[in-house]
Amino acid sequence: MSHILELRNLSFIYGKGTPFEKKAVDDVSLTIEKGEFIGIIGHTGSGKSTLVQMLNGLITPSEGQVLLDGKDIWSEPKKIRDIRFRVGMVFQYPEYQLFEETVYKDIAFGPQNRGLTGDELDKAVRKAAEFTGLRPDMLDKSPFDLSGGEKRRAAIAGVIAMEPEVLILDEPTAGLDPMGREILFSQIVNYHKEKGNTVLLVSHSMEDIARVADRILVMNHSHLAMLDTTKAIFARGDELETMGLKVPQITKIMQVLKAKGVDVPDGILTVDEALEVLSSLLKKEGKLW
Ligand SMILES: Nc1ncnc2c1ncn2[C@@H]1O[C@H](COP(=O)(O)OP(=O)(O)O)[C@@H](O)[C@H]1O
Ligand SMILES: [Mg+2]
Repeated sequence: MSHILELRNLSFIYGKGTPFEKKAVDDVSLTIEKGEFIGIIGHTGSGKSTLVQMLNGLITPSEGQVLLDGKDIWSEPKKIRDIRFRVGMVFQYPEYQLFEETVYKDIAFGPQNRGLTGDELDKAVRKAAEFTGLRPDMLDKSPFDLSGGEKRRAAIAGVIAMEPEVLILDEPTAGLDPMGREILFSQIVNYHKEKGNTVLLVSHSMEDIARVADRILVMNHSHLAMLDTTKAIFARGDELETMGLKVPQITKIMQVLKAKGVDVPDGILTVDEALEVLSSLLKKEGKLW
Protein backbone atom coordinates (compact mmCIF):
# COMPACT_ATOMS: atom_id res chain seq x y z
CA MET A 1 0.00 0.00 0.00
CA SER A 2 1.65 3.19 -1.11
CA HIS A 3 -0.88 5.79 -0.07
CA ILE A 4 0.29 7.98 2.71
CA LEU A 5 -3.09 9.45 3.63
CA GLU A 6 -6.53 7.96 3.55
CA LEU A 7 -9.67 9.82 4.55
CA ARG A 8 -12.67 7.67 5.36
CA ASN A 9 -16.10 9.27 5.53
CA LEU A 10 -14.64 12.30 7.22
CA SER A 11 -17.02 14.93 8.65
CA PHE A 12 -16.65 17.91 10.95
CA ILE A 13 -19.38 19.87 12.69
CA TYR A 14 -18.77 23.22 14.42
CA GLY A 15 -20.96 24.10 17.41
CA LYS A 16 -22.67 20.74 17.56
CA GLY A 17 -26.01 20.96 19.36
CA THR A 18 -26.07 24.78 19.31
CA PRO A 19 -28.20 27.03 17.09
CA PHE A 20 -24.98 27.77 15.16
CA GLU A 21 -24.31 24.16 14.26
CA LYS A 22 -22.47 23.95 10.95
CA LYS A 23 -21.31 20.88 9.09
CA ALA A 24 -18.12 22.27 7.57
CA VAL A 25 -16.88 18.98 6.09
CA ASP A 26 -19.40 16.38 5.00
CA ASP A 27 -18.51 12.74 4.34
CA VAL A 28 -15.20 13.12 2.52
CA SER A 29 -13.38 9.94 1.42
CA LEU A 30 -10.19 9.88 -0.63
CA THR A 31 -6.61 8.62 -0.76
CA ILE A 32 -3.37 10.48 -1.40
CA GLU A 33 -0.22 8.76 -2.63
CA LYS A 34 3.23 9.24 -1.23
CA GLY A 35 5.04 12.09 -2.95
CA GLU A 36 2.01 13.61 -4.63
CA PHE A 37 1.55 17.36 -4.90
CA ILE A 38 -2.14 18.01 -4.28
CA GLY A 39 -3.78 21.38 -4.92
CA ILE A 40 -6.86 22.18 -2.85
CA ILE A 41 -9.33 24.72 -4.19
CA GLY A 42 -12.88 25.79 -3.36
CA HIS A 43 -14.90 28.93 -2.64
CA THR A 44 -14.46 30.73 0.69
CA GLY A 45 -16.20 28.76 3.42
CA SER A 46 -16.24 25.52 1.40
CA GLY A 47 -14.40 23.65 4.16
CA LYS A 48 -10.78 23.64 2.96
CA SER A 49 -9.20 24.82 6.22
CA THR A 50 -11.38 22.58 8.34
CA LEU A 51 -10.49 19.59 6.18
CA VAL A 52 -6.73 20.11 6.36
CA GLN A 53 -6.81 20.78 10.11
CA MET A 54 -8.20 17.30 10.62
CA LEU A 55 -5.27 15.76 8.77
CA ASN A 56 -2.72 16.53 11.46
CA GLY A 57 -4.97 16.14 14.46
CA LEU A 58 -5.50 19.81 15.24
CA ILE A 59 -9.21 19.12 15.34
CA THR A 60 -10.90 15.77 15.85
CA PRO A 61 -13.32 14.51 13.20
CA SER A 62 -16.98 14.43 14.22
CA GLU A 63 -17.24 11.28 12.14
CA GLY A 64 -14.86 9.19 10.08
CA GLN A 65 -11.14 8.55 10.17
CA VAL A 66 -7.83 9.90 8.97
CA LEU A 67 -5.27 7.17 8.26
CA LEU A 68 -1.60 8.08 8.04
CA ASP A 69 0.42 5.24 6.51
CA GLY A 70 -2.53 2.96 7.12
CA LYS A 71 -3.03 3.84 10.79
CA ASP A 72 -5.82 5.95 12.35
CA ILE A 73 -4.11 9.09 13.68
CA TRP A 74 -6.39 9.01 16.74
CA SER A 75 -5.77 5.33 17.56
CA GLU A 76 -3.48 6.50 20.37
CA PRO A 77 -4.65 10.00 21.34
CA LYS A 78 -1.63 10.50 23.62
CA LYS A 79 0.65 10.25 20.59
CA ILE A 80 -1.13 12.89 18.56
CA ARG A 81 1.90 15.18 19.01
CA ASP A 82 3.96 12.75 16.93
CA ILE A 83 1.38 13.04 14.18
CA ARG A 84 1.84 16.83 14.16
CA PHE A 85 5.54 16.30 13.49
CA ARG A 86 4.83 13.89 10.67
CA VAL A 87 2.12 16.04 9.10
CA GLY A 88 3.41 19.61 9.21
CA MET A 89 0.94 22.44 8.92
CA VAL A 90 1.51 25.99 7.78
CA PHE A 91 -1.55 28.09 8.62
CA GLN A 92 -2.76 31.24 7.00
CA TYR A 93 -0.66 34.09 8.39
CA PRO A 94 1.79 31.77 10.17
CA GLU A 95 4.01 34.72 11.15
CA TYR A 96 1.72 35.30 14.14
CA GLN A 97 3.15 32.12 15.59
CA LEU A 98 6.70 33.49 15.77
CA PHE A 99 7.58 34.16 19.37
CA GLU A 100 11.29 33.46 20.10
CA GLU A 101 14.02 36.12 20.44
CA THR A 102 15.79 35.06 17.28
CA VAL A 103 14.76 33.59 13.96
CA TYR A 104 17.16 30.72 14.61
CA LYS A 105 15.42 29.75 17.85
CA ASP A 106 12.05 29.99 16.20
CA ILE A 107 13.02 27.62 13.40
CA ALA A 108 14.71 25.29 15.92
CA PHE A 109 11.62 25.03 18.13
CA GLY A 110 9.87 22.26 16.17
CA PRO A 111 12.85 20.00 15.42
CA GLN A 112 14.02 20.41 19.03
CA ASN A 113 10.69 19.11 20.21
CA ARG A 114 11.08 16.27 17.80
CA GLY A 115 14.28 15.36 19.64
CA LEU A 116 17.01 16.84 17.46
CA THR A 117 20.06 18.27 19.25
CA GLY A 118 23.56 19.55 18.52
CA ASP A 119 24.86 19.36 14.98
CA GLU A 120 21.80 17.59 13.69
CA LEU A 121 19.56 20.37 14.96
CA ASP A 122 21.86 23.06 13.58
CA LYS A 123 21.88 21.40 10.17
CA ALA A 124 18.10 21.08 10.11
CA VAL A 125 17.67 24.77 10.97
CA ARG A 126 20.16 26.00 8.38
CA LYS A 127 18.85 23.72 5.66
CA ALA A 128 15.26 24.83 6.28
CA ALA A 129 16.32 28.50 6.26
CA GLU A 130 18.07 27.93 2.94
CA PHE A 131 15.02 26.20 1.49
CA THR A 132 12.83 29.16 2.28
CA GLY A 133 15.40 31.66 1.02
CA LEU A 134 16.39 33.21 4.35
CA ARG A 135 19.97 34.49 4.37
CA PRO A 136 22.19 33.05 7.15
CA ASP A 137 22.62 36.52 8.70
CA MET A 138 18.87 36.72 9.24
CA LEU A 139 19.00 33.82 11.67
CA ASP A 140 20.39 35.99 14.47
CA LYS A 141 17.79 38.71 14.05
CA SER A 142 14.61 39.07 16.04
CA PRO A 143 11.71 37.75 13.97
CA PHE A 144 10.04 41.09 14.57
CA ASP A 145 12.76 42.89 12.61
CA LEU A 146 12.01 40.96 9.43
CA SER A 147 9.78 42.10 6.58
CA GLY A 148 6.37 40.50 6.10
CA GLY A 149 7.63 38.10 3.45
CA GLU A 150 10.69 37.15 5.50
CA LYS A 151 8.56 36.47 8.58
CA ARG A 152 6.38 34.20 6.52
CA ARG A 153 9.46 32.32 5.31
CA ALA A 154 10.80 31.96 8.84
CA ALA A 155 7.49 30.48 9.98
CA ILE A 156 7.48 28.04 7.08
CA ALA A 157 11.12 27.11 7.74
CA GLY A 158 10.10 26.15 11.28
CA VAL A 159 7.68 23.60 9.90
CA ILE A 160 9.88 22.14 7.18
CA ALA A 161 12.83 21.85 9.60
CA MET A 162 10.85 19.01 11.19
CA GLU A 163 10.97 17.25 7.81
CA PRO A 164 7.32 16.30 7.87
CA GLU A 165 6.33 13.39 5.62
CA VAL A 166 3.32 15.44 4.62
CA LEU A 167 3.53 19.22 4.35
CA ILE A 168 0.24 21.11 4.35
CA LEU A 169 0.15 24.80 3.44
CA ASP A 170 -3.10 26.74 3.86
CA GLU A 171 -2.93 29.76 1.56
CA PRO A 172 0.73 30.36 2.42
CA THR A 173 1.21 33.32 0.08
CA ALA A 174 -1.91 35.29 1.12
CA GLY A 175 -1.18 38.95 1.78
CA LEU A 176 2.31 38.97 0.23
CA ASP A 177 3.23 41.20 -2.71
CA PRO A 178 3.58 39.50 -6.14
CA MET A 179 7.37 39.20 -5.82
CA GLY A 180 7.14 37.70 -2.33
CA ARG A 181 4.47 35.30 -3.52
CA GLU A 182 6.53 34.13 -6.47
CA ILE A 183 9.65 33.58 -4.35
CA LEU A 184 7.81 31.63 -1.69
CA PHE A 185 5.90 29.63 -4.24
CA SER A 186 9.03 28.54 -6.10
CA GLN A 187 10.63 27.57 -2.81
CA ILE A 188 7.72 25.29 -2.00
CA VAL A 189 8.05 23.74 -5.44
CA ASN A 190 11.81 23.23 -4.96
CA TYR A 191 11.25 21.69 -1.55
CA HIS A 192 8.85 19.17 -3.06
CA LYS A 193 11.18 18.40 -5.95
CA GLU A 194 14.20 17.89 -3.76
CA LYS A 195 12.60 16.02 -0.87
CA GLY A 196 9.89 14.19 -2.75
CA ASN A 197 7.62 14.55 0.27
CA THR A 198 3.86 14.78 -0.06
CA VAL A 199 2.60 18.35 -0.28
CA LEU A 200 -0.97 19.66 0.06
CA LEU A 201 -1.39 23.27 -0.99
CA VAL A 202 -4.59 25.25 -0.41
CA SER A 203 -4.57 28.20 -2.78
CA HIS A 204 -6.77 30.78 -4.46
CA SER A 205 -4.36 31.04 -7.35
CA MET A 206 -5.41 28.74 -10.16
CA GLU A 207 -2.22 29.76 -11.97
CA ASP A 208 -0.04 28.49 -9.13
CA ILE A 209 -2.02 25.29 -8.74
CA ALA A 210 -1.90 24.64 -12.49
CA ARG A 211 1.88 24.94 -12.48
CA VAL A 212 2.59 22.36 -9.78
CA ALA A 213 -0.27 20.11 -8.75
CA ASP A 214 -0.36 16.46 -9.83
CA ARG A 215 -3.98 16.32 -8.78
CA ILE A 216 -6.55 18.82 -7.58
CA LEU A 217 -9.11 18.41 -4.83
CA VAL A 218 -12.15 20.66 -5.19
CA MET A 219 -14.30 21.44 -2.14
CA ASN A 220 -17.80 22.84 -2.62
CA HIS A 221 -20.24 23.55 0.22
CA SER A 222 -18.50 21.13 2.64
CA HIS A 223 -18.42 18.33 0.07
CA LEU A 224 -15.65 16.83 -1.99
CA ALA A 225 -16.80 17.93 -5.44
CA MET A 226 -13.91 16.63 -7.56
CA LEU A 227 -10.55 14.92 -7.22
CA ASP A 228 -8.67 14.34 -10.43
CA THR A 229 -5.56 15.22 -12.42
CA THR A 230 -4.93 18.91 -12.91
CA LYS A 231 -5.66 18.66 -16.64
CA ALA A 232 -8.93 16.83 -16.07
CA ILE A 233 -10.10 19.34 -13.45
CA PHE A 234 -9.36 22.40 -15.56
CA ALA A 235 -11.09 20.81 -18.53
CA ARG A 236 -14.30 21.18 -16.47
CA GLY A 237 -14.32 24.97 -16.55
CA ASP A 238 -18.10 25.36 -16.71
CA GLU A 239 -18.64 23.26 -13.60
CA LEU A 240 -15.89 25.11 -11.77
CA GLU A 241 -17.58 28.38 -12.62
CA THR A 242 -20.84 27.26 -11.02
CA MET A 243 -18.78 26.72 -7.85
CA GLY A 244 -17.38 30.23 -7.97
CA LEU A 245 -14.04 29.05 -9.34
CA LYS A 246 -12.13 29.73 -12.52
CA VAL A 247 -9.66 27.95 -14.74
CA PRO A 248 -6.24 29.61 -15.21
CA GLN A 249 -6.47 32.58 -17.58
CA ILE A 250 -4.24 30.97 -20.17
CA THR A 251 -6.41 27.83 -20.17
CA LYS A 252 -9.45 30.02 -20.77
CA ILE A 253 -7.77 31.90 -23.63
CA MET A 254 -6.84 28.64 -25.33
CA GLN A 255 -10.38 27.35 -24.92
CA VAL A 256 -11.71 30.51 -26.58
CA LEU A 257 -9.25 30.08 -29.47
CA LYS A 258 -10.30 26.47 -29.90
CA ALA A 259 -13.97 27.46 -29.92
CA LYS A 260 -13.11 29.92 -32.71
CA GLY A 261 -11.69 27.05 -34.76
CA VAL A 262 -7.96 27.37 -34.02
CA ASP A 263 -6.33 23.95 -33.92
CA VAL A 264 -5.10 23.88 -30.30
CA PRO A 265 -5.33 20.96 -27.87
CA ASP A 266 -7.42 20.88 -24.68
CA GLY A 267 -5.95 21.27 -21.26
CA ILE A 268 -3.24 23.90 -21.77
CA LEU A 269 -2.30 24.92 -18.23
CA THR A 270 0.66 27.27 -18.42
CA VAL A 271 1.86 30.18 -20.53
CA ASP A 272 4.94 28.15 -21.53
CA GLU A 273 2.80 25.32 -22.89
CA ALA A 274 0.61 27.79 -24.77
CA LEU A 275 3.67 29.46 -26.27
CA GLU A 276 4.96 26.14 -27.53
CA VAL A 277 1.65 25.18 -29.11
CA LEU A 278 1.05 28.58 -30.70
CA SER A 279 4.56 29.02 -32.06
CA SER A 280 4.58 25.59 -33.69
CA LEU A 281 1.20 26.44 -35.20
CA LEU A 282 2.51 29.73 -36.58
CA LYS A 283 5.60 27.98 -37.92
CA LYS A 284 3.42 25.46 -39.70
CA GLU A 285 1.55 28.30 -41.34
CA GLY A 286 4.81 29.94 -42.32
CA LYS A 287 4.20 33.00 -40.16
CA LEU A 288 7.13 32.44 -37.86
CA TRP A 289 10.67 31.29 -38.51
N1 LIG B 1 -14.21 28.14 14.42
C1 LIG B 1 -15.36 28.07 13.72
N2 LIG B 1 -16.57 28.07 14.36
C2 LIG B 1 -17.72 28.00 13.65
N3 LIG B 1 -17.80 27.88 12.32
C3 LIG B 1 -16.63 27.86 11.64
C4 LIG B 1 -15.36 27.95 12.30
N4 LIG B 1 -14.39 27.91 11.36
C5 LIG B 1 -15.01 27.80 10.17
N5 LIG B 1 -16.36 27.77 10.33
C6 LIG B 1 -17.36 27.64 9.26
O1 LIG B 1 -17.14 26.40 8.61
C7 LIG B 1 -17.27 26.54 7.20
C8 LIG B 1 -15.99 26.12 6.51
O2 LIG B 1 -14.95 27.02 6.89
P1 LIG B 1 -13.44 26.83 6.43
O3 LIG B 1 -13.05 25.44 6.67
O4 LIG B 1 -12.66 27.90 7.11
O5 LIG B 1 -13.56 27.10 4.87
P2 LIG B 1 -12.46 27.63 3.81
O6 LIG B 1 -11.11 27.38 4.39
O7 LIG B 1 -12.74 26.82 2.58
O8 LIG B 1 -12.75 29.07 3.59
C9 LIG B 1 -17.67 28.00 6.96
O9 LIG B 1 -19.07 28.07 6.87
C10 LIG B 1 -17.18 28.69 8.19
O10 LIG B 1 -17.96 29.83 8.47
MG1 LIG C 1 -9.51 28.67 4.76
